[in-house]
Amino acid sequence: ETVEWEAASYDMGGHDTFMHKEISEQPDAVDRVLRGRIDDRFSTVHLGGLNLDPREARTIRRIKILGCGTSYHAGLIGAGLIESMARIPADAEPASEFRYRNPVVDPDTLYIAVSQSGETYDVLAAVQELKRKGARVLGVVNVVGSAIAREADGGVYVHAGPEVCVVSTKCFTNTVVAFALLALHLGRIRDLSVTDGKRIIEGLRRLPEQISEILKLEDEIKELAAEYAGAQSMMFIGRVRGYPVALEASLKLKEISYIHAEAYPASELKHGPLALIEPALPTVAIVPDDDLLEKNRAALEEIKARSGRILAVAHQEQEKADHTIVVPKNEDELDPILMGIPLQLFAYHTALAMGRDIDKPRNLAKSVTVE
Ligand code: G6P
Repeated sequence: ETVEWEAASYDMGGHDTFMHKEISEQPDAVDRVLRGRIDDRFSTVHLGGLNLDPREARTIRRIKILGCGTSYHAGLIGAGLIESMARIPADAEPASEFRYRNPVVDPDTLYIAVSQSGETYDVLAAVQELKRKGARVLGVVNVVGSAIAREADGGVYVHAGPEVCVVSTKCFTNTVVAFALLALHLGRIRDLSVTDGKRIIEGLRRLPEQISEILKLEDEIKELAAEYAGAQSMMFIGRVRGYPVALEASLKLKEISYIHAEAYPASELKHGPLALIEPALPTVAIVPDDDLLEKNRAALEEIKARSGRILAVAHQEQEKADHTIVVPKNEDELDPILMGIPLQLFAYHTALAMGRDIDKPRNLAKSVTVE
């Protein structure tokens, strides 16, 4: 059993598909998740529904994030944001895996359930199991009043608005921004300085405009997609912050184009995937201009040396890449939010060139409310 949107009751607003509409809505959606939450006086944010007082927030020793599909990937980026801003050890795990391995439920761990719909069965069941064992669980959810939102002790709504396309785009982006807000909030209660808080806030405020700039690259991305649409398989690589971006971009491509795609940490190439590299297997590489730039460039060289084709998403042209999609730079922590957006358009135009049913890919449902 699955929940289907009454797609007909939503307006496509002049777009050919809901996916295209939802990708285009991201500047406004991000504006909405930020609105009314930033506190410039203390360089922090207010999250009204969190139900976590500062004293409790200081006692958290670990954060465990649970979700499925795209929400799991948003959680992986969220864990990175929390670790870097709040210095609390954090990780994400698919909710379905977590609940079947009899996890150790630790009173000093804060659990966070991530779900666009707030109805995904595996996530809901994990929340209920955690609550039964006395854990504190927050929700990062889009649909207000949904089952997971009601079951959680508190949380952050991501305010992306209704998402109709089966694959998630604007909701993914807003979920990651919601995690950035949560990380900033926790960071400012702990050891993140006022200066760093201010730096992150300024970065967050730049996001909507920068997303609009990326959306203007659509024609260029469409041309690239036409070139890659014939591929049997594609590899996506990234490192640390870039790796979950690669995971999500590869998921998006496989879901709507049915091209086989897999994501690897760039550092793991030599432990296996290099054996696959040849001209017929293109690689999409996430190459932010940060402290790992040289490491990422070395990976591009390894691929080029084996005649692999490379499409880079970067802050500057990459010499070893066949094509670079150049995106605007933000603060290092926030770059993953922007770097995935051109790859939503890339997946979209690849699938379109292949004549796929983009809003309703075969075998998939928007909301999986059974096991
Ligand atoms: C389904 C959808 C995915 C989504 C996942 C989790 O598999 O097809 O797009 O990421 O469920 O959904 P949720 O509503 O919990 O974020």
